[in-house]
Amino acid sequence: MIKPFFVGLAGGSGSGKTTLAKSLHSHLGSDQTSIFCLDWYYHDICKQPKLDDGSINFDHPSALDQYLLINHLQQLKKGRNINAPIYNFATHHRSKLTRKIANRPTIFIEGLHTLVLSEVRRILDLKIFIDLSDDIRFIRRLLRDQSERKRSLHGVITQYLTATRPMHMEWILPSRRFADVVLSAENSVSEMKRIVLSQIQATSKAGN
Ligand SMILES: Nc1ncnc2c1ncn2[C@@H]1O[C@H](COP(=O)(O)OP(=O)(O)OP(=O)(O)O)[C@@H](O)[C@H]1O
Ligand SMILES: [Mg+2]
Repeated sequence: MIKPFFVGLAGGSGSGKTTLAKSLHSHLGSDQTSIFCLDWYYHDICKQPKLDDGSINFDHPSALDQYLLINHLQQLKKGRNINAPIYNFATHHRSKLTRKIANRPTIFIEGLHTLVLSEVRRILDLKIFIDLSDDIRFIRRLLRDQSERKRSLHGVITQYLTATRPMHMEWILPSRRFADVVLSAENSVSEMKRIVLSQIQATSKAGN
């Protein structure tokens, strides 16, 4: 049974974590790598903790089903496959269906809170934080949420100002200090990929 090498990809919303993980996955191939997204582990909207005004803060770590998330990471670390939840970003509901995530020699674990959650940090072999200025992150997030998640301009701006930005300041940015490597997303995706691949090589060699 293989014991996978866990690479954590953290960074603010819109910094390009999902894009980089997908690019690394397609470069190395699905027989060598799997992707694990913290985003899959959002609680169903019925179970989300509500703020005083009845709204939900999706950028707070408590928005995630941390128990299931950690449990699944531990299963993967033991070399097992998992049945990961499927979360619908348009409706905020978790599907009754699951998706099988196959264990592979390298697993990219990506999400906003990758370096925020101490139990996730502890299980990672390499911790990467993607740095990008707030204005570019907001623009990328806005364009993505409008086109892929069917959000309105007003909705994206309101969420950014009331939740995403304050949570970035309180949780995400301070988690950068836990990173082994801080990547600038001013670099192209292929340059970031090259750096991550050389770090994986260096870190896994040092661990052998
Ligand atoms: N290097 C890049 N250059 C230009 N656009 C990029 C780059 N990386 C990502 N993008 C685009 O920016 C948007 C946000 O990227 P992505 O969804 O990967 O960010 P994320 O860090 O996963 O954000 P979130 O935490 O909200 O999931 C996407 O539309 C993506 O195509
Ligand atoms: Mg993402």
